[in-house]
Amino acid sequence: MLNTLVGKVAVVTGAANGIGLAISQGFAECGATVVMTDIDNDKLHLEKDLLLRDYDSVDAVTCDVGCSDSVKQMAKQVLRDHSQIDVLVNNAAVAIPGNIVSMSEADWSSVINTNLSSVYRTIQAFLPSMLTRKSGSVINISSVQASRSWRNWTAYATAKGGIRSMTIQLAGQFGDMNVRFNTITPGAILTPMNENRAKEEGEAFLAQSKKMSPASRLGRTSEVASAAVFLASDDAAFVNGADIKVDGGLSTVPRYEEHT
Ligand SMILES: NC(=O)c1ccc[n+]([C@@H]2O[C@H](COP(=O)([O-])OP(=O)(O)OC[C@H]3O[C@@H](n4cnc5c(N)ncnc54)[C@H](O)[C@@H]3O)[C@@H](O)[C@H]2O)c1
Repeated sequence: MLNTLVGKVAVVTGAANGIGLAISQGFAECGATVVMTDIDNDKLHLEKDLLLRDYDSVDAVTCDVGCSDSVKQMAKQVLRDHSQIDVLVNNAAVAIPGNIVSMSEADWSSVINTNLSSVYRTIQAFLPSMLTRKSGSVINISSVQASRSWRNWTAYATAKGGIRSMTIQLAGQFGDMNVRFNTITPGAILTPMNENRAKEEGEAFLAQSKKMSPASRLGRTSEVASAAVFLASDDAAFVNGADIKVDGGLSTVPRYEEHT
């Protein structure tokens, strides 16, 4: 894997924590220039400075993917400072549950905006540059919940299913321009997102996630990063429209069991 991303400029959204941070590190390890972006300015710059101790080419641009102007500004800065983009990872998301009956439209729209419309925004901002150079890899982070029912996660799951559909559409449309679109579908991965859910829903949530998984454990962020490194690299030159499940087999089990 070492050096497989040398010469590539990669942008990772939601890079200050969890999976986005691990992907940023994985890309840097493989020689890419990594532009980390996140809404959390302080944590973003803290993590960037930590990565810079080990790797030369790490940059950080604060960006709210839920806001068009912020995404446009970030893309402008990336293309000005780095001249190109080769890899875009749409990873930023919020995990907000809600019962379809009682969820307010404002909350629904907020989840869809941050988790799904954000992907439209970043692709719209960066795709013209990829098309001009006839080169690019877009990696969209979906979720097992795109195809499995979890109680009261309708908006989140809808966004994740939409990401998969968008990826298929764009893979077909831009494959002949050598711009590839793929998804990664993580199962339960130990990240701040799940640690926060455990705080809110109780430790039984994590125990149940382990029990549900054929692997009997949660995934590591580095395991998702390995899939992203592959999709970003030229080793995946003929991989377009694919979905790589990094879920320990979770999506193969017959049904979700409610944790109580
Ligand atoms: N952790 C899991 O088990 C799991 C499972 C399936 C899918 N996923 C997906 O993987 C991705 C990463 O999840 P994670 O667990 O690492 O999450 P996380 O909460 O640990 O990290 C998400 C990051 O996104 C950032 N972010 C949130 N809103 C933002 C915004 N508006 N603009 C820019 N940045 C924003 C946060 O500040 C944070 O740094 C998400 O797309 C998530 O849906 C996670």
